[in-house]
Amino acid sequence: MSADGVFRTRSLGVAAVGLPDQYADGKAAKVWQLYIGDTQSRTQEYKSWVVSLLKKQGVQKILDVACGTGIDSIMLVEEGFNMVSVDASDKMLKYALKARWERRKEAAFDQWVIEEANWLTLAEDVQKPGDGFDAVICLGNSFAHLPDFKGGILIIDHRNYDYILETGRAPQGKNIYYKSDLTQDISTSVLWVNNKPHMITLDYTIQVPQADVQNLPEVSKFRLSYYPHRLESFKSLLSEAFSGKMEHSVYGDFKTYTPGQTQAPCYFIHVCKKTA
Ligand SMILES: C[S@@+](CC[C@H](N)C(=O)[O-])C[C@H]1O[C@@H](n2cnc3c(N)ncnc32)[C@H](O)[C@@H]1O
Repeated sequence: MSADGVFRTRSLGVAAVGLPDQYADGKAAKVWQLYIGDTQSRTQEYKSWVVSLLKKQGVQKILDVACGTGIDSIMLVEEGFNMVSVDASDKMLKYALKARWERRKEAAFDQWVIEEANWLTLAEDVQKPGDGFDAVICLGNSFAHLPDFKGGILIIDHRNYDYILETGRAPQGKNIYYKSDLTQDISTSVLWVNNKPHMITLDYTIQVPQADVQNLPEVSKFRLSYYPHRLESFKSLLSEAFSGKMEHSVYGDFKTYTPGQTQAPCYFIHVCKKTA
């Protein structure tokens, strides 16, 4: 870790910058499902896009490198993919493990592998199948560390930080991932260091229904900080990670993205396919 408290690594040929574990106190994990809202309505927004992309590429084995509570992994297990789901936070994984346990009688769920792993030490933490993973996903504004595999695709996203930095607020369109009506407020602040945006902090306020039953306060607050990747610099980062050997497409909220389009997307989704 460098003096400014930011992790930096260049192992596995990929530049990665991560923040210290902000999920360790379990505050975000406790209300994450509430923040997501109805899981079906979250995933149905992009399920067919993701599933048909993966099937078209002949993908079977997938690594979800920041699966959180398991929302996307569950969707893909249900769709018949062979999933290995990892996350650095045992607090977040607890919910994925619970979902697997509850559906353990379904063969696909019984075979679902869930493990604690940090993307900074992914090579040691995750046992790679003999011929590697066919795809790595890292969705929901997480950040990925890509293992060195041949072929395969990477689907990775980040918020539209360009818009946030320009306007001081998130785009007004529908949030494709976190759609709960219970989100009362997300206030945004930007930390600038040497005239450069260094960190964006989002303070979430979530209204908790039946708070006493869930042993939570009626209004739950948690704070998460992110590195504000700009679209162009994130593209360069990916290009560097793949040594320029990739086909690369950028989507806005899982739709075709045209720079300068009227409705700014909330998220950018990058699809990278390694070429020889
Ligand atoms: C914004 S949440 C998204 C979770 C999930 N993908 C979703 O869409 O709901 C980010 C996740 O990244 C995980 N994470 C953060 N740093 C990590 C690291 N260094 N290695 C692995 N996972 C990490 C957190 O524990 C958290 O579950």
